[in-house]
Amino acid sequence: MTIAQAPSSTLSVVVLAAGKGTRMRSDTPKVLQPLAGKPLLGHVLDTVHHLSAERVVVVTGFGAQRVQEAFAHQAHLRFALQEPQLGTGHAVQQALPDLPGDGVCLVLYGDVPLAPASSLAPLVAQAQTGALALLTVELDDPTGYGRILRNADGAVQGIVEHKDATPAQRAVRECNTGILCAPLPALRRWLGQLRNDNAQGEYYLTDVVALAVADGVPVRASTVADADDVLGVNDRSQLAHLERVVQLRTARRLLDAGVTLADPSRIDVRGALHCGRDVFIDVGCVFEGEVHLADGARVGPYAVLRDVRVGAGTVVHPFCHLDGASIGAGAIIGPFARLRPATALADGVHIGNFVEVKNGTLGPGSKANHLSYVGDATVGARVNIGAGTIVANYDGANKHRTVIEDDAHTGSNSVLVAPITIGAGATVGAGSTVSKNVPAGKLTVARAKAVTLDGWSRPVKKK
Ligand code: UD1
Ligand code: CA
Repeated sequence: MTIAQAPSSTLSVVVLAAGKGTRMRSDTPKVLQPLAGKPLLGHVLDTVHHLSAERVVVVTGFGAQRVQEAFAHQAHLRFALQEPQLGTGHAVQQALPDLPGDGVCLVLYGDVPLAPASSLAPLVAQAQTGALALLTVELDDPTGYGRILRNADGAVQGIVEHKDATPAQRAVRECNTGILCAPLPALRRWLGQLRNDNAQGEYYLTDVVALAVADGVPVRASTVADADDVLGVNDRSQLAHLERVVQLRTARRLLDAGVTLADPSRIDVRGALHCGRDVFIDVGCVFEGEVHLADGARVGPYAVLRDVRVGAGTVVHPFCHLDGASIGAGAIIGPFARLRPATALADGVHIGNFVEVKNGTLGPGSKANHLSYVGDATVGARVNIGAGTIVANYDGANKHRTVIEDDAHTGSNSVLVAPITIGAGATVGAGSTVSKNVPAGKLTVARAKAVTLDGWSRPVKKK
């Protein structure tokens, strides 16, 4: 049996994202600025995902097209255009035609990225009982924020914006986070009554609080425990501050999960980092996209890993750039190695300094220890790619594949011109340029023989 939800409890969410973000001094709309590798608005929408809302409307204005394109893959989202931008109250008004007649409406700000679902859910529950629910925060420096005004009994009377506040009101440290939840019919009514006779000439959403009080609707204000959860991003300093907040929280989660971090304040995770047991990560590493580090993996300082899988016990030495690669167990990578997309390295592979591998596979135990380029190649097991070996995969128009079979060795400074197959157990002599298949089990050399000239003497400088 299914129990139908009472219509009045239906949740709609409006996310305000129309502002230009003038103080960011950027051509990118503020809500698209990345925080831990994800747009500010993306953080908010991820949180909304946990609230099981019936309807989610994003109000866009500045850079509306770009904002909409950035989230086009989230098919359930609706977008309402606010043009021109006449304030936060006016912004919510633009979303009203997309909202149902009943239920409650949670208003979130696209530039307040870290408000957790755990502090939003209680607001929704309060609004479902008919109240106007506000989220507030105590700040040591409340400059710029709207202040919560309470009467002698402590009941909320209204919100005054910093720019409109008297000195006495500015002394109040309890601030508006901007986040509120209200019954929709009442919200519609209050929004219709907003006026813009204030310091900024805007229709303030915050004025609905005094209108609710006048209507005799209860106003419930809950204060968040951790101010970082509700900080807004108005300028680059605030964005940088929140970046460190997010990174430190991630670092703490990794430590709690048993990962060793050489310094929790010097790691950047811009995506999802999954670690097994006893993983060690040195300072200055950046992880992007989905990165998996299996049990006992070690990542040396200043490595950048993006969409990479690192097998158990594998060591990544300092200064590696690994992108779109999967690495088996017990491998050794770097220092100064570059792995490019579609690289797959089997167990026990060694990739040394200044070696680049692209769209290639190396079988178990194969080694390319120094100064090589291995592109579009299928390399078997136990192959030794000598220092300075270049796989010439590109003829100027097309890319071609190279196959190096098991146990083959390529000498130092050899050039393998693709398409070509180096047979199993073959050896290519140092300094050879080979452009035809190399037979298995034999030595193939392609270089001029050295000659020694007897009776030659070195020229001397004329006086
Ligand atoms: C707002 C609140 C303030 C609160 C602070 C918390 C108002 C009037 N003030 O001030 O009480 O302390 O947030 O961070 O609500 N936006 C639109 N359309 C507009 C104007 C703004 O969509 O016409 C969006 C912005 O993109 C932004 C959000 O609303 O995401 C807040 O706007 P902003 O101008 O940053 O307001 P604050 O001055 O920070
Ligand atoms: Ca703001």
